[in-house]
Order: sequence, then C-alpha cells, then structure tokens
Amino acid sequence: MDIINWKEELFPYKQATDELYVKFNSIKKEYIDLEQHSPIELVQTRVKSIASILDKANKRDIAITKIFETLEDIAGIRITCKFVEDIYKVVQLIRDRDGQDLVIKEEEDYINNTKSSGYRSYHITIKYKVITARGCKEIPCEIQIRTMAMNFWATIEHSLRYKYNGNMPKHLKEKLEACAEASFKLDTEMGTIREEIIQTQKIIQTKENLVSKILKNIQNLYYIGNIEEMNNFNREFIDLYQEGNIEKLQEFNNMLQTMADLYKMSYI
Ligand code: GTP
Ligand code: MG
Repeated sequence: MDIINWKEELFPYKQATDELYVKFNSIKKEYIDLEQHSPIELVQTRVKSIASILDKANKRDIAITKIFETLEDIAGIRITCKFVEDIYKVVQLIRDRDGQDLVIKEEEDYINNTKSSGYRSYHITIKYKVITARGCKEIPCEIQIRTMAMNFWATIEHSLRYKYNGNMPKHLKEKLEACAEASFKLDTEMGTIREEIIQTQKIIQTKENLVSKILKNIQNLYYIGNIEEMNNFNREFIDLYQEGNIEKLQEFNNMLQTMADLYKMSYI
C-alpha cells in the first residue's frame, strides 16, 4: 500500500485532537468555576499537515507505508501555562489519567534537561483511543507543555530554524541560546511572585463569577415577567458595582438568590 487515503487516515487524528481539546479545556473551566488557579492557560491543537508529514518521513528515511506507525506527533496538543510550577501540575493531571482515558508512552523533561538549542518544554507522548464510524483506533499524540515565555522563544526559534533549514549562522544560534536563558530567568523571577499573582487573579475571578450570578438572577425576573422589579434591581446593581464593595455585592446576590428560590418553590 503506497497510495494513502489521507482523508481517511487523518480523520481519527483530528478526532483525537478535538476530544483532547475539549477535555483539557474542561479542566481549565473547572478550576475557573471553582475559583481556583488553573495551571492550564491555553490549549492548542493541530494535526500535522500532509506536506510536513511527508517532509519528516523523507528526512528520517521512513517508508511511506510506515508513516503512521512511526511518527508520533501527527496529532499534537500544546498546553501553555503561566508558571513553570504549573507545567508539573499539568503533568500530574495527565499522569492521573494514565490507564483511564489515555496511556502514557513516554515523558521527556526538556526543562530540567534543556536542549543544546536552549529549547525548554515538557513532552508527553500518549496513546489515545478514538471510536469513529469505522471502528476503534489508538492514536499516538504528542503533548507539549510549556510556559508562555518558553512558547515565545520556541516559536521564534522554530521560524528561524525553518528559514535557515538546519544551517543557522553561529552568531544567531548563540543569540538564541542567550535569549532562552534570559527567558527562563523571567520564568524563574515570575515564579517567585506566583502566589501573589494567583491571589489577585482569584479576586478578579470571584468578582466576575459573582457579577454573572447576579445578572443571571436579575434576568430570571424578566422571564417570570417581573419587569419593574428587574429594572429596580438592575439600577441597584449598577450602584453597588460602582461602589466596588464585594461583600455588599455578595449580600445583594444572596438576596436575589433567595428570591429566585422562592419563585422556584411557588412554581413547583
Ligand atoms: P521528533 O518529534 O520527530 O522531532 O522526534 P523526537 O521525539 O526525538 O523530538 P523531540 O522530542 O526532541 O521534539 C519533538 C518536538 O518538540 C519537535 O517537533 C518540536 O515541535 C519541538 N522541539 C524540539 N526541539 C526543539 C528546538 O530545539 N526548538 C524548537 N523550536 N522546537 C523544538
Ligand atoms: Mg519527542
């Protein structure tokens, strides 16, 4: 078989990345809803393009018939974190799922074992089972976990690497190595004020969640036709919001919640 039906072959890879995208984003959402710091900042996925698959197979001398059993990064997930500490939290989250909905095949810690290029990231290769209309398939998938700073460096370095096609001038290589160290210094420095940043984020998140709860409760009054009451509460909310006192907003929401519960009871 050296004619590949790419559309058919790649379909389960897209399904795997789509499912994992939802799963990692659900974890992020869970942390946010529970007003906790999410170690996951951003989830990105991609299925390698056919051109890149062929290029890689060509470079590594992989026969066309062996592409799908050899390449392990056709399906890729990238998780970006704010802090280095968060990377290891995400690693643990994935380890906890080992044998559940995924199987870990390999871990590579390029943070403690920085590559000579200066590259840092944590890689986990997994097998992920998808069920398509054509049956069950185990898809290899490479998860790259890195901080925003590591990602900034890696994307720039990747473009330059591509431009010079493996023959990067020495001065540029050295510059990039220096940039990698400077960027890791930023990660380390940021790490020292992690707790403070997390606390501030929590306060902002609590306020945001509270505001959505209040607006939802006020909106519910509209649904039961109590327009005048709704308008009064809206005005009261704006005054309280401008005052900026979280406790008062909390009390206001408790009152709205009690009202909503009462309406619900009378409805039943
Ligand atoms: P490949 O995945 O085929 O490269 O084999 P491998 O498992 O030996 O590679 P490795 O784990 O070193 O790297 C896998 C992926 O990490 C690459 O495809 C890149 O996305 C990324 N990566 C690794 N090293 C570098 C680097 O020096 N610079 C950049 N920008 N990315 C890198
Ligand atoms: Mg690898």
